[in-house]
Amino acid sequence: MRWVAALLMGMATLTVVGCMSLAQIAPPVDVLDRGVVGDSGIEVGALVRGRDHYLRHCGNCHALEPIGDYSEADWRGILPGMIKRCRLDAVKAEELRDYVMVVRGHLDRRG
Ligand code: HEC
Repeated sequence: MRWVAALLMGMATLTVVGCMSLAQIAPPVDVLDRGVVGDSGIEVGALVRGRDHYLRHCGNCHALEPIGDYSEADWRGILPGMIKRCRLDAVKAEELRDYVMVVRGHLDRRG
């Protein structure tokens, strides 16, 4: 039976390595660079809601896209169309966009 355990361990390792954690895909607001959040002028509560919209809607048609996979310029091109596909009201759309842009700013500052 030991080989079964070894196989299961191997599969578990592959799964962990193969998947990015949610915190890497769309980091929670409380880990974001405070300077970037402050400079954005956006309320923390609005960013938290923006992340919620991201997690709730942006993985419905395809896997959730890691925000760090695209540059700020990429997102400016991609987001309007994708947000439209989510059929959010204007406030939620803005919260979602602000969240992505602040995360992008955070990633750019952290390198
Ligand atoms: C109704 C379905 C749907 C929803 C909801 C959706 N997408 Fe997409 N997404 C697509 C399709 C289809 C594509 C393939 C490219 C295309 O058709 O534009 C795509 C492509 C992408 C890409 C790759 C673009 C590229 O140029 O490589 C990104 C990034 C992306 N989506 C992010 C998001 C984000 C962020 C959200 C939430 C705001 C979202 N998507 C919501 C359907 C959706």
